[in-house]
Amino acid sequence: MVQPNREVATLWYKDAVIYELHVRAFHDSNADGLGDFPGLTEKLDYLRDLGITAIWLLPFYPSPLKDDGYDIADYAAIHSSYGTMSDFRRFLREAHHRGIRVITELVLNHTSDQHPWFQRSRRALPGTPWRDFYVWSDTAERYQGARVIFKDFERSNWSWDPEAGAYYWHRFYGHQPDLNFNSPRVWRAMRQVVDFWLRMGVDGLRLDAVPYLHERDGTNCENLPETHAVLKRLRQHVAARYPDRMLLAEANQWPEDAAAYFGSGDECHMAFHFPVMPRMFMSIWMEDRYPMVEILTRTPPVPDECQWAMFLRNHDELTLEMVTDEERDYMYRVYATDPEARINLGIRRRLAPLMGNNRRRIELMNSLLFSLPGTPVIYYGDEIGMGDNIYLGDRNGVRTPMQWSADRNAGFSRANPQRLYQRPIVDPEYHYETVQVEAQQRNQQSLLWWMKRLIALRKRHQAFGRGSLDFLAPANRRILAFVRRYGAETILVVANLSRYAQYAELDLSEFRGRVPTEMFGATPFPPVGDAPYFITLGPHSFYWFALSEAATEQQPPSSPTRKSRAE
Ligand code: NOJ
Repeated sequence: MVQPNREVATLWYKDAVIYELHVRAFHDSNADGLGDFPGLTEKLDYLRDLGITAIWLLPFYPSPLKDDGYDIADYAAIHSSYGTMSDFRRFLREAHHRGIRVITELVLNHTSDQHPWFQRSRRALPGTPWRDFYVWSDTAERYQGARVIFKDFERSNWSWDPEAGAYYWHRFYGHQPDLNFNSPRVWRAMRQVVDFWLRMGVDGLRLDAVPYLHERDGTNCENLPETHAVLKRLRQHVAARYPDRMLLAEANQWPEDAAAYFGSGDECHMAFHFPVMPRMFMSIWMEDRYPMVEILTRTPPVPDECQWAMFLRNHDELTLEMVTDEERDYMYRVYATDPEARINLGIRRRLAPLMGNNRRRIELMNSLLFSLPGTPVIYYGDEIGMGDNIYLGDRNGVRTPMQWSADRNAGFSRANPQRLYQRPIVDPEYHYETVQVEAQQRNQQSLLWWMKRLIALRKRHQAFGRGSLDFLAPANRRILAFVRRYGAETILVVANLSRYAQYAELDLSEFRGRVPTEMFGATPFPPVGDAPYFITLGPHSFYWFALSEAATEQQPPSSPTRKSRAE
């Protein structure tokens, strides 16, 4: 990949647009009903055309697949259903060839109980190095301050192992024993895993469930200094050998605790911003900017080289852990009217159904995702407005096959439909005969094309990925307005969170004389004068304005040619 500027090359994740997908769900090349690496490689041109710059792959390692691959049985191999190691290498090469980086999963916290490490550990004598690979105890009374995360499925973080004659610790499912980071051998084993994938050329690692690496009595066993010490060590290791690679923390925590995963620029390069996500959904339902502004205002500044990862939906439930009890009740009431949609402390739905399949609302949410500070992460299928199936178990309802066409199995696979790992969506409103890539490619008014334009526009302005954030405070709280600044670029974003037309008076005195130019159509608006800037917005509409310098006189609005538009 040719990158002229070294700074741009090493900080690539700041300007990235990340696309999250599961290889199993994307494209099946050999008609066995499961997606695979050759299938994904075939679809790389689609992803390049969409404009994304990095792919985040969900776990693809050998696994009993009781937690969709987050239960790893071998860290240095490929699940045979998804292809071979050479298929993976080819995929990586082809992705790089198209300028697309690849981020994989590093599950540090736990393994499958089928991993040979655990099998050895349960048989080893207490006090021996193998036994110490995992966290064992004679009682289930230790670490009582730790919450149970999968509360719909597990009652305790301890499970009894008859073979070992002891309890083992697990923060997730009982079949996912936690590794013991007090053991130096665990660190060494994980370092080998990191080397294995980074040497191969993987560009980034998402660190799954990272707050839980260490346990200590009398604490909630989250975010402990010991855990941060592991990450500092990992960062040093990576920085010394692979300077342009990225570590992304999955820490479902309040902003202050999540920001701690950046350290002072010496831990992770990126971390997901979990708390802002449900608040975007809250703000749009309440038609009030407060939840978003509040959480972003209390988000600490991040070290220069660090970056938030922003998302609307992912492969998990819309988690409501980082909201108050009242807010959770509210979210359930408005977004999960069918109790089947609830799981653990969250809602298992995709973006389009959460937005009532309302195109304006889907666009508005994406416009926020793409204009707020941080790097946007799109969940596969959301770019075409895919639906979900809340009647499938666990979080499977948001992990159905990608819908490529109206053909058999949504063009995902040529297998007998009964052989698919899961059927594509047939809910009449989101049926794959209607919601699919082929039809949307043909129609330039489709959501897919709209997303392409959004991505392309974002990529032309570094202010989105790197700029500062300043909120404006118009009296009308249904309007969210903020300014992003980076170098010579100043961008004003104004969004109407309401389903009705709204107006606002913006204090743009700082930009007096500048001409706000609407960025999608390159349409100049009246220059900023002495009076507050008066603006009207249709239901759920938004504007991105470039605040160009030095306008001397008002230019009449012209009809931009097709070429000058962002399409
Ligand atoms: C977080 C992952 O996103 C989720 O899918 C998984 O079940 C847990 N970690 C346990 O690995």
